[in-house]
Amino acid sequence: MLNKMGIIGGGMIGGVLLQEIPRRRLARRVGLVDIMPPDLAKGKCLDIAEGSPVMRFDTELSGSKSYEVLEGAELVINTAGVPRKPKPDGTLPTREELLQTNLKITAAVAAGLREYCPDAIVISIANPLDAIVYRLQQLLEPEPGRLFGMAGVLDSARYRWFVAQAAGVSVENVEALVLGGHGDTMVPIRSACRICGLPVEQFVDEETLAAIEDRTRKAGGEVVKLLGTGSAFVSPAWSALEMAEAVIHDKKKILPVSARLSGEYGVEGLFIGVPALLGRGGVERVFEIPLTDAERAGLERSIAAVRKTCAEVDALV
Ligand code: APR
Repeated sequence: MLNKMGIIGGGMIGGVLLQEIPRRRLARRVGLVDIMPPDLAKGKCLDIAEGSPVMRFDTELSGSKSYEVLEGAELVINTAGVPRKPKPDGTLPTREELLQTNLKITAAVAAGLREYCPDAIVISIANPLDAIVYRLQQLLEPEPGRLFGMAGVLDSARYRWFVAQAAGVSVENVEALVLGGHGDTMVPIRSACRICGLPVEQFVDEETLAAIEDRTRKAGGEVVKLLGTGSAFVSPAWSALEMAEAVIHDKKKILPVSARLSGEYGVEGLFIGVPALLGRGGVERVFEIPLTDAERAGLERSIAAVRKTCAEVDALV
């Protein structure tokens, strides 16, 4: 158990994190910062604290509009961002406008982290994932492995669930990896997909697998359309917590992580979804795995897309 965890952004994902951290006994204290007036962070903390006798936990929850509430946090999960929603004039912001807004938020996030918990391990979920984590790296310059992004655990969980449904087996029997950037170019790695240790092709036919991989790439959008407002929030929170637990319990668990590469996969200095070992030091090791030619080509395309987004970040800041 940690002494203190921090959450930045107390919206839909932050709200689930705030419930789950005490339930899973991950930290004695949790600090939540959100700038939303009148005081969303304080309100969310009060709601959950008032239910704590029923749920039987003594975790101290503090919410605030000020980043001071993160003081001393050892691990922080960042969810601060704005979604793509119509502007007051009714038009939708362009991708660039949205990126610009989220980069401003990221500047505030980095300033808060630097001031109040400069040594914390940071897991970032905020979108556009690849751009935000890249910018955080520039602003924070953390020790290697202490900043990384959550996307692959969720994308892989979606792939695993679709495969389990198609094969008619428990989700617990399905292992899978989705690598690359977090977006349309992500690469479901069929050659690493196993059901009870056996190649997935022994259970699911080629056509169905291709459809599953396509659905995986678009899975975020599918939920957005059904919800009508906002995006998936429970599964992203659980996915970030799987990573947090690997760190807190020093599990040495290999998960798909948006990790900063230093030459692996031919990439220098970008955050790309790759299999990585998570332990008390954060990302302790990155694995280069064998890929088929098609998977390798897909990963190259995805890396190119991330490189392009990061170049947009460099141009905007
Ligand atoms: N500091 C702290 N919190 C902020 C800041 C800031 N500078 N700017 C915005 N926030 C808060 C908002 O007030 C909001 O409560 O971040 C919260 C984001 O919550 P939601 O809008 O509900 O978004 P959520 O669904 O939780 O997703 C968060 O994760 O998956 C990504 O695309 C998603 O980028 C989004 C992020």
